[in-house]
Amino acid sequence: MTSTHLPVLVKEVIQGLAVRPGGRYIDCTVGGGGHAVAILEHSSPGGQLLGLDADPEAVSITRGRLETYRDAVLIVNENFVRLRSVCEEYDFYPVHGILFDLGLSSLQLASNARGFSFQRESALDMRLSPEQETTAEDIVNTLTEDELANLLWTYGEEARSHRIARRIVAERPIRTTFQLARIIELAVGGRRSRIHPATKTFQTLRIAVNQELQNLESVLEQTVGLLGFEGRLAVISYHSLEDRIVKRFMQKESRDCICPSGIPMCVCGHTASLRMVNRKVIKPSPDEVRLNPRSRSARLRVAERLAAREENQ
Ligand SMILES: C[S@@+](CC[C@H](N)C(=O)[O-])C[C@H]1O[C@@H](n2cnc3c(N)ncnc32)[C@H](O)[C@@H]1O
Repeated sequence: MTSTHLPVLVKEVIQGLAVRPGGRYIDCTVGGGGHAVAILEHSSPGGQLLGLDADPEAVSITRGRLETYRDAVLIVNENFVRLRSVCEEYDFYPVHGILFDLGLSSLQLASNARGFSFQRESALDMRLSPEQETTAEDIVNTLTEDELANLLWTYGEEARSHRIARRIVAERPIRTTFQLARIIELAVGGRRSRIHPATKTFQTLRIAVNQELQNLESVLEQTVGLLGFEGRLAVISYHSLEDRIVKRFMQKESRDCICPSGIPMCVCGHTASLRMVNRKVIKPSPDEVRLNPRSRSARLRVAERLAAREENQ
């Protein structure tokens, strides 16, 4: 695990967002600032960037890293679920492009204190921000067996959800990452492949603790009203649940009617607000995956705003 975060699909993001001098951009997951630096360089002179991150540690590191661009950049410690309010507060809309690079940074995964990785011994925390109330420890120690199994099935697509949930409940209280990883190994009868059997459970807990899927659905709806005419939305996701949400949102917003099929006449009144820029999802090249194995599951989708809404004019 590297302790610096290598940004993924950088060239594709810059092309996808059609970054140009003087443009105004939002990086909703500024993290270590890798994409932010690329956007700032390509939007210079005159470009502006608003960066958000829910993690105060990431924000303080990245504020330092982006100090040389201080006249062009504003970094805010906020969850992107509040995107519209943040943009209103800083009068930062309409914009030419909005980027999401979902998930976690290598720094967060490598941390010995955050609990995101089953390869590091730590308390089971997994919160992006210490201001959030619920930790992964709360979830594993308080949900019923059925609730845990449902969560593992829904957020982890874990086929062995019932076996794992039963063992978790039997072994409570569970306090640390290693303890949980060991319990899962025992529940499924040991390790049989290169992929650790705890992978899907850790993914489930992270998604649940940070309400990742609900927040993504909510923020995607907010982006349309913040993009100016021909503004671009680019989203990099790292697992199928996220990618499905992004794909369905972009497909829905690219259609004039979203009535259920079989209805003889449109009753929804929906009009397309986006155009898909790439029909096919963009994946990293084999060279990028070789240089940065973390990029292998990255999927980029890009859409363009069709016409500015009245409230933005
Ligand atoms: C993959 S990293 C982004 C890396 C960044 N693009 C770079 O080049 O360094 C994802 C970042 O998104 C942040 N994040 C995840 N969910 C978030 C949310 N709902 N609101 C704000 N930030 C979030 C994480 O804290 C993490 O720093």
